[in-house]
Amino acid sequence: MQDVAAKTPLEQLRPVLELLADGEIHSGESLGNALGVSRAAVWKQLQKLESYGLTLESAKGRGYRLPGGLDLLSAQTVTAQLDDSARALLRELRVFDELSSTNSLLLERFEEGKGHAVAILAERQSAGRGRRGRNWVSPYATSISLSVGWEFNGGVLSLEGLSLAVGVAVAKALERFSVPGVRLKWPNDVWCQGRKLAGVLLELKGDLTDRCSVVIGIGLNNGLNAKTAEEIDQPWADLQQVRPGIGRSELTAAILSELLPMLETYPEGGFATYRESWSTLDQFAGQPVQLRSGNLSWEGVAAGVDEKGALLLDTDKGQKSFHGGEISLRGQV
Ligand code: BTN
Repeated sequence: MQDVAAKTPLEQLRPVLELLADGEIHSGESLGNALGVSRAAVWKQLQKLESYGLTLESAKGRGYRLPGGLDLLSAQTVTAQLDDSARALLRELRVFDELSSTNSLLLERFEEGKGHAVAILAERQSAGRGRRGRNWVSPYATSISLSVGWEFNGGVLSLEGLSLAVGVAVAKALERFSVPGVRLKWPNDVWCQGRKLAGVLLELKGDLTDRCSVVIGIGLNNGLNAKTAEEIDQPWADLQQVRPGIGRSELTAAILSELLPMLETYPEGGFATYRESWSTLDQFAGQPVQLRSGNLSWEGVAAGVDEKGALLLDTDKGQKSFHGGEISLRGQV
């Protein structure tokens, strides 16, 4: 179980981070006064920031600053910026400074029967999870780590293609801010200008033939610094480099505004409702690709997706559909 009651070391640093979030120089004395602690205690706190991937600059004799400042998430701003339809659907929104994984916390919530229509955000994940057992790098305040819980009747079959529809929702949210070059890579990666900007991890629980719970995890790079980005093992894009200045809370509200109404109506029309939108964003449409699944691989020309979200490949043995695997441009890893 993740202990969300006790304050983590990072949560204890929240007050000093809020003071430094403006990116301005603050003297040790002014920080100490604002926090009600000695200058030595301030210095102790500041020394810890680097271990969270934050770069602290000291200006001799003047104080300290976090260059570029921090755009901290605000539950209030997210809620205020939601579309009315999404606000009506959302039951709870929680922002944590630090969690091992927002998906894990929501899975635990479902154990207690309290996960439906809940959105969990974390400024940092210490063990963020990606697809296929990969890690998901989510350092403090420089990505969006969001999980949403939803319960569906009708079992997993009615949910085919849902992860692709989540990708469409994220792409539409980015379109609201005119982010250029947004595409989808099958099944549910969000790419921007030819590299991965965001990923989606769906985790299911419950009776897979009847009432089941789904945790929809979305991770999006937003202001990663070069050092932490070194940990990412695939070509990545960062929203702050592509379209600087989009507020993290505002973007989160846009994602939830696209996502929640989609989840509410998904079982009615399934992926067929989103197929056209997905196809217009298809990163690899018409291109020679390779699909790998375990030790097997297939080659063909990407021919979009079917009504259930399966990948269509035109191979030399005719058109084939695939429900799993990793796609890449032929000749690239
Ligand atoms: C992928 O590998 O493409 C999926 C990445 C999903 C990452 C998100 S971040 C929020 C949520 N919590 C997690 O531990 N993972 C997902």
